[in-house]
Amino acid sequence: MSHPATTPPAPTPPVITIQQASRYDGRTVVIQGWLHNLRRSGKIAFPIVRDGTGFLQCVAVKAQVGEETFERIKHLTHETSLRLTGKLRADERAPGGFEMDVEDVQVIQAVSPDDPFPITPKEHGVDFLLDHRHLWLRSRLQHAVLRVRHSVIRAVRDFFDNDGFTLVDTPILTPAACEGTTTLFEVPYFDEGSAYLAQSGQLYNEATAMAMGKVYCFGPTFRAEKSKTRRHLTEFWMVEPEMPFVDLNDIMDLAERFVESVVARVLDERKEELKTLERDVSKLESVRRPFPRISYDDAVKTLQRKGSEIQWGGDFGNADETLLGEDYDRPILVHRFPTEIKAFYMQPDPTRPEVALGVDMIAPEGYGELIGGGQRIHDYDLLVERLNEHKLPREAFEWFLDLRKYGSVPHGGFGMGVERCVAWICGIEHVRETIAFPRMIYRMKP
Ligand code: 4AD
Ligand code: MG
Repeated sequence: MSHPATTPPAPTPPVITIQQASRYDGRTVVIQGWLHNLRRSGKIAFPIVRDGTGFLQCVAVKAQVGEETFERIKHLTHETSLRLTGKLRADERAPGGFEMDVEDVQVIQAVSPDDPFPITPKEHGVDFLLDHRHLWLRSRLQHAVLRVRHSVIRAVRDFFDNDGFTLVDTPILTPAACEGTTTLFEVPYFDEGSAYLAQSGQLYNEATAMAMGKVYCFGPTFRAEKSKTRRHLTEFWMVEPEMPFVDLNDIMDLAERFVESVVARVLDERKEELKTLERDVSKLESVRRPFPRISYDDAVKTLQRKGSEIQWGGDFGNADETLLGEDYDRPILVHRFPTEIKAFYMQPDPTRPEVALGVDMIAPEGYGELIGGGQRIHDYDLLVERLNEHKLPREAFEWFLDLRKYGSVPHGGFGMGVERCVAWICGIEHVRETIAFPRMIYRMKP
């Protein structure tokens, strides 16, 4: 009888992500990640590892792993990359519902104790954190926010894709301004002179809507406005639907249905993250249609009653938006703003030309304007008149005027800034934490 020359290798445990833990209860697996935290007490150590999909609490017992491995675990430094082998065990008290009994650890790159990970559990100033944004992203809260952002973006796409809209991406380098040149980033463009980074895809959407029917664009948007508020970035992501054959009411209906569905999707998909963020989800659960619809006229009266200085004809400041939103448990739709303060393309109300058929959606809890949009001018002569009033160069808008010459129809849409939406859903103070690498007037690094 012959014997094999060597014994067959022991089966190697599967490499899994922390998110997959529930499928491996009671089994020995390998997790690849980074050391998030380590508590020690005598002959037992509790490393917490994270791998991008979640955080896993582990237990290493000296008597079980042996002296040498235990020493290695005991001296692990924060953010050291490693591969942990161990058995998963369901535990209700553990954050993700599972714990690992460590059997072995393999260090991939050890963080030097002489140059430790700069972000520690103690308090850091926000400037320090923003300077270290590339590392700050590893923290629990930042991770949770970015996961919510991903769900918001997916919900946005699914909503429009399932509602008969066609995605048509609009250019980022554009020859002209959509809403005035003072807030544009100018870039040199070969022999053509200057190009401007797009601040909205709307004008192009108006063209594609006449070709495709309901359309949306979704991409980065740039604003050079000098707004240093917690709601403004110089680069943000905006989704903009545009529809032919609609009026202001249809646009408000869509905005309401859209926001309701995005919030519901995040509530469904991101319970863990919202818990990590300590978000009061009851505030999100009340985001149900219909949203209150308030005319600008009434909004001004309400604001004056609440002590705002605003006069009819003025635009809302951040404080006004907060005051307006605070009486409601869901977003509100403010419509029919003074034509004077709105963009050149806004359709005036035929019964009251001093107001335009525009709408802003204002979020509750002080998050301000979430959506801006409305009905566009579809009449050729009126649009020419407005271009002149706004001193916009006719030649640059010939193509835009063509849309009013060849089968013009009432149409409109809106834009929603993703970062405002994520900040509101997460309940975080500032939009800068809702995007991986925020761009603000006073910060471009890292
Ligand atoms: O109200 P805005 O300027 O509307 C437009 O650009 C229209 N052309 C959209 C359209 O009708 N297709 O911007 C729309 C939304 C705002 O409600 C806000 O959510 C977000 O974009 N937004 C910003 N987000 C972050 N930082 C900024 N600087 C923003 N400016 C606008
Ligand atoms: Mg606006």
